[in-house]
Amino acid sequence: MAPQSRLKLASALLAIASFTHLTLAAPTGTASAPAPSSLLGYNAANKVINEDTDDISYTLVPGQTDTAVIGAYLDFNNVENPQPIRGSKGGTDPGPRTEEYDILNPDKLAPPGTDHGDVSNAQWPMGLSHMKLGLSRAGWSRQQNVDNIPVATEMAGVDMRLEEGAYRELHWHKAGEWSYVLNGSVRVEAVNEDGQTFVDDLSAGDVWFFPPGVPHSLQGLQGGVEFLLVFDDGSFSEDNTFLASELFATNPKEILSKNFGLPLSAWDHIPPGELFIFPGTKAPTDISAQNIVGSAGLVPTAQSYTFHLSQKANDHETDGGTVKIIDPTIFPVASMFSAAIVTIKPGALREIHWHTTSDEWNFFVAGSARIGIYAAQGNARTFDYHAGDTGYIPKAMTHYVENVGKDDVIFIEVLQATHFSDVSVGQWLGLTPPQIVMDTLNLTNSTVSQFKKEKQYIVPGAVVA
Ligand SMILES: *[C@@H]1O[C@H](CO)[C@@H](O)[C@H](O)[C@H]1NC(C)=O
Ligand SMILES: *[C@@H]1O[C@H](CO)[C@@H](O)[C@H](O)[C@H]1NC(C)=O
Ligand SMILES: *[C@@H]1O[C@H](CO)[C@@H](O)[C@H](O)[C@H]1NC(C)=O
Repeated sequence: MAPQSRLKLASALLAIASFTHLTLAAPTGTASAPAPSSLLGYNAANKVINEDTDDISYTLVPGQTDTAVIGAYLDFNNVENPQPIRGSKGGTDPGPRTEEYDILNPDKLAPPGTDHGDVSNAQWPMGLSHMKLGLSRAGWSRQQNVDNIPVATEMAGVDMRLEEGAYRELHWHKAGEWSYVLNGSVRVEAVNEDGQTFVDDLSAGDVWFFPPGVPHSLQGLQGGVEFLLVFDDGSFSEDNTFLASELFATNPKEILSKNFGLPLSAWDHIPPGELFIFPGTKAPTDISAQNIVGSAGLVPTAQSYTFHLSQKANDHETDGGTVKIIDPTIFPVASMFSAAIVTIKPGALREIHWHTTSDEWNFFVAGSARIGIYAAQGNARTFDYHAGDTGYIPKAMTHYVENVGKDDVIFIEVLQATHFSDVSVGQWLGLTPPQIVMDTLNLTNSTVSQFKKEKQYIVPGAVVA
């Protein structure tokens, strides 16, 4: 700043200071002198309206008056006027409010006393995502990506429906696409860069993977299909894929004719733009009618783009639930997709754990659960999930998944890893010399001696009194 303008600024500040001093100087005279009419807001005609907002009627639910650090799940279904109260903390909320949010997210309304500081959002309901509607009632899709969960940089998800005969049109994209069939059945088809071909039929519980850039299409079979797509890029968008329809609409017809050695009239009726999801001729029931093979033959079985996971046995079965794992050790083409399909019985807990090198993207297929995340620097926060919700937990952060409803929770955890793994907090401390654990956590010998040396995966419901 030039010396001259600095001088101007200084005298301007001085003028403000002396003006302030003049106007705000305490009145000399008597204490009861009326406020000066120049005081902003003062008007003898103003009125204050009192309402009995501390008189509102409400019911506290079981657990709500417990010491806040006990942090039990608060079930606000069927109670009058849920309140942001936990133990000795909080206060009433007279409104405005929309109670449905509070019932769905009790750990937001009245967080456990162990929540602390800030943890980035880790939950997004697909039910709040914009629906992209297909043509002629052929289906729809909706997505979760960094736009709804900003920390979800490594993976994004799509929920898609195709009616019987409807196509997700021939397309490709820059991300790898891993999919889990949620309901119904689907025919998947692809051609890779070597000219090898692939076609298969899948039903609920099965998985497919298409590597980046490999063109593919999907078609709903009898009764249609709904599936989940997971992409290895958090900024993936279904609005940003390469489409066969657009490819043809955006190349000069002269070029198309030269490329295919066909007359210009061959392109008279091509679609003017994207089809995305559209109704088609029903797929032939006999899949072999769609086996097309070139000189390169089929995609080798060892590199299959599909895995019939619905027919695989669970990897872990406990009193609290089951875990079924699919990762590159059995599905090598999806070289960085490791996933677990987890069932948790009512009250049971997917034990506290973390993943060493990968973020976790997850999706709730059924039930209601809560996830508590510890994020280092003293930060921890609890999030609530229901069927159709997605979640995201950055690598190394601990988390548990507690079934808080009356039905089984089914959820899918997806990692970017060469095999499915986690560090179980129980096993870690069970395998640490007891003296170290006792000194660190101020626990008794008898407590530490009951820590288990094996992973529990899912711990059954009842909390020991
Ligand atoms: C698929 O959808 C039908 C119709 O809504 C439902 O009855 C069935 O239970 C669903 N199946 C699965 C596996 O969710
Ligand atoms: C814990 O108790 C067991 C006996 O129950 C004993 O052998 C062991 O030395 C104790 N450990 C410590 C660290 O006090
Ligand atoms: C450890 O626990 C004992 C009670 O068993 C308590 O008296 C003591 O203050 C605790 N120590 C620390 C460091 O918190």
